[in-house]
Amino acid sequence: MEQMHHELEKAASLLKAGELVAFPTETVYGLGGNALSDAAVARIFEVKGRPSFNPLIVHVPSLAAAEAHAQFNAAARRLAETFWPGALTLVLPRRADCRLSLLVSAGLDSVAIRVPAHPLAQALLHAAQLPIAAPSANRSGRVSPTQASHVQEELGERVAMILDGGNCSVGIESTVVDVTGEVPVILRPGSITREALLTCVPHVGLHKPSGVYASPGMLESHYAPDHNLRLNATHVEKDEALLAFGVPLAAGLVCNLSASRDLREAAANLFAMLRALDKKTSRGIAVMPIPEEGLGVAINDRLRRAAAPKN
Ligand code: TXA
Ligand code: MG
Repeated sequence: MEQMHHELEKAASLLKAGELVAFPTETVYGLGGNALSDAAVARIFEVKGRPSFNPLIVHVPSLAAAEAHAQFNAAARRLAETFWPGALTLVLPRRADCRLSLLVSAGLDSVAIRVPAHPLAQALLHAAQLPIAAPSANRSGRVSPTQASHVQEELGERVAMILDGGNCSVGIESTVVDVTGEVPVILRPGSITREALLTCVPHVGLHKPSGVYASPGMLESHYAPDHNLRLNATHVEKDEALLAFGVPLAAGLVCNLSASRDLREAAANLFAMLRALDKKTSRGIAVMPIPEEGLGVAINDRLRRAAAPKN
């Protein structure tokens, strides 16, 4: 307790001094920096190796805090009131007097904002008294971290401090919803499903990849392990590792996302198991089919990106 208080104070001081701190959220670990500082935000892009046209999510402690930076229409407000704090990111028009670094928006006139639920993320936001820009704490294009050790593997010395909050309970990144227009549009599927959003607003559009660069998170190859992934596998080839769902197809090098076919459990295990199998296999990873429903939509989205040819 005392120890964690000390860690939080140290993390807050580092953020105020323009340094980067990795911290846990309920979805994945974030690589945080002061969202008011161009230099700190530029450093995030540099450390991640992220193309600078890919904008960042700004984390704030509450809806009231978010309103200082962005404009909320009726649908945006309903979604925020229903799902914040939580795994929902809203893309909103920047206010004219918005003080957030323009770099977080990567040249767009919108900004992505999220109120995380994780107690350490909330405690850090309160201690630092700053909006925190934070992409997932992995190098660009790689699997998102769901444990402090993953962040260490990805970024090591390049980050001033890693706050350790154990395993992320959700395990898959937030749902990104564009609420700059009248009808909310899902830019990135996540743990808050379309069905859940529809309990609170009458219409939800789906982003259709059309070559238009709506959300750079829609880049084809993303979340990629080093070895090839073979989706919807119905058999396992020699030396292939198996990412199972339900009753495993084969024995050998196997991780099971969920023996009971529970999609929440599968989402929470997804990135850690991809990482573990990627380290051990010499050939590639076969992935058993996952139903395209509820959280399965987000899981399959990440798996398709992980399997896409790298460019
Ligand atoms: O769960 C999460 O969302 C985690 C934790 C740390 O909060 N963060 C995360 O950040 O996944 P990142 O940077 O890896 O993904 C942010 C996504 C990207 O797909 C990005 O293109 C999109 O949000 N995005 C950010 N700002 C945007 C904007 N102004 N317009 C459209 N898309 C935006
Ligand atoms: Mg990411």
